[in-house]
Amino acid sequence: MSDAKKPSIPQVPRPEQVGNETTRRDFLNEITLGALGFAGLGSVAVTYQYFSPNVLFEPATTFRAGNPDLYPIHSVTFLQDQQVYIVRMPEGFYAVSAVCTHLGCVTQWKPGADMIACPCHGSKFRADGAKIEGPAPRPLPHFSISLTADGELLVDKLQNIKPAQVLKV
Ligand code: FES
Repeated sequence: MSDAKKPSIPQVPRPEQVGNETTRRDFLNEITLGALGFAGLGSVAVTYQYFSPNVLFEPATTFRAGNPDLYPIHSVTFLQDQQVYIVRMPEGFYAVSAVCTHLGCVTQWKPGADMIACPCHGSKFRADGAKIEGPAPRPLPHFSISLTADGELLVDKLQNIKPAQVLKV
């Protein structure tokens, strides 16, 4: 009977015997640390965005319109990028907004008819911006126009002036 084999008892491995195998507890710890790290990065990003200034870059409201000699007397020149008419009459220069005072369409200079016309609802204006007819409630506004130190026209679209104010050159 001494040769008889003893029944084998299944051995549960101890932690130091497991080696590199990941236990359930290690797995849950890693998941938890990962989630905390992700949340930490997110809060850092939100904090950074909160403290960084929100800046809105808008186009400049003041622009140079070039040398006065570019504009013949009795001319209306449409500056498309600024949506402004540079008008030169014998009495001087003025800058007139090209944006219709009705609903904001961009008007067009009609040299044959000698007037500014709005393509949207038919308002018509004289070259000095005065309303002739149509649904526009007001004349086209005049902007401040002056000369720079080096002799160029300077228009400030933030400053409306009375139509009677002209720049004499
Ligand atoms: S937008 Fe010019 S007439 Fe209506």
